[in-house]
Amino acid sequence: MGHTWTKSDWRSKPRIQMPEYTDEAALKGVTDRLARYPLLVFAGEARRLTRALGEVAEGRAFLLQGGDCAESFDEFSSDMIRDTFKVMLQMAVVLTFGGQTPVVKVGRMAGQFAKPRSADTEVVDGVELPSFRGDIINGFDFNAESRIPDPNRMLRAYTQAAASLNLLRAFSEGGFADIKRVHQWTLDSTEGGKGYEEYHALARDIAKSLAFMEAAGISGETVDAMKRVSFYTSHEALLLEYEEALCRQDSETGDWIAGSGHMIWIGDRTRQPDGAHVEFARGVINPIGLKCGPTISESDLLTLIDKLNPDNTAGRLTLICRFGAGEVGAHLPRLIRAVEREGRKVVWSCDPMHGNTIKSESGFKTRPFDRVLAEVQEFFAIHKAEGTHAGGVHFEMTGKDVTECTGGLREVKDEDLSSRYHTACDPRLNASQSLELAFLVARELQAQNEARARG
Ligand code: PEP
Ligand code: CO
Repeated sequence: MGHTWTKSDWRSKPRIQMPEYTDEAALKGVTDRLARYPLLVFAGEARRLTRALGEVAEGRAFLLQGGDCAESFDEFSSDMIRDTFKVMLQMAVVLTFGGQTPVVKVGRMAGQFAKPRSADTEVVDGVELPSFRGDIINGFDFNAESRIPDPNRMLRAYTQAAASLNLLRAFSEGGFADIKRVHQWTLDSTEGGKGYEEYHALARDIAKSLAFMEAAGISGETVDAMKRVSFYTSHEALLLEYEEALCRQDSETGDWIAGSGHMIWIGDRTRQPDGAHVEFARGVINPIGLKCGPTISESDLLTLIDKLNPDNTAGRLTLICRFGAGEVGAHLPRLIRAVEREGRKVVWSCDPMHGNTIKSESGFKTRPFDRVLAEVQEFFAIHKAEGTHAGGVHFEMTGKDVTECTGGLREVKDEDLSSRYHTACDPRLNASQSLELAFLVARELQAQNEARARG
């Protein structure tokens, strides 16, 4: 008999982008404890998300994935979660009604704590310290002690993820997401701002349709689905000690589930076919995301698909492409053709954030809204030319009124960046930029639908 996968097999593979914990006993104490804690998500939920993503892979639905670059311990509050959830609901409604497509909603939330970094160290005023790797690993404060990896942070991340998920479940199921409340999902900070006219006009159209449907006997009273949404969580499965501790076997089926979130993804820096991260992800039944940057070759992609989705299940694997505006044409067609040639079922999603990060003149890490938009448009245009389904988008965004990405209708300028620059890692779209982008994506979706209807 061949060796069957175990949740610890990743330990014998090359590991990168993970901390070296110095206190073995402390690490073991934490992971033993986590291994006894309840899972945050269950196998049935992960299977349901795989089926929903299967609809995306088959071209019948669209994936909206978004949230923080890095969730932070300090920023954590119920308002913060509520506001991001509200913006995602608004975006989803714009895509569903504007794009006439069912939308699968997945937050980068309730577990998105660990960050891969391009450089191992950071220099400030001549002082060199280890890079910040996310609140689950070490501290953001720039001093030597804070940058030491501390396993106890995993317990705090788990608790915050559990509380976040609890709130998200209540919001999704408890009436807040009732489509009748579409006018109330707006935020004080953006209400009345440019771009909201369009949202309210759409909400008025929805209200009209609801009134018509109610007259025909279809309402939240008769169709439960109108009162609630399915909302899923996702994060990069980077810190494998944490992931392993929350990985359990489903007693009914014997399947292994990563209990830390519904969907997990593998980053662009850790997708080595023989590396630790691919080894862990291949054994769990959760839907898997794979970040694809400019350096991925067709043959590596096919090897990764073989490993991560050997049964060719639609919805199991989402390819999250992040090439940068102006670069999509150089990479996406070659990858699409390789996947199509081999008949592989994947969701194609566009992350227009990670290939478009620049340093502004004032010294902030930012992303110009125009470039984010341009990458999305290139993504749609290429799928149209190749005859494949532009299946989703992946954004770093927040419901807070931050000034981290430049541009947009309400024009954040370089000199504005310093006023509300709060991110613990990469610059996020603010609420109004996110909604604006949703309208633009809805237009692309509409065009995609029309082109298909014409045959
Ligand atoms: C991220 O999504 O936060 C990230 C680090 O992305 P990538 O792996 O694509 O660089
Ligand atoms: Co990021």
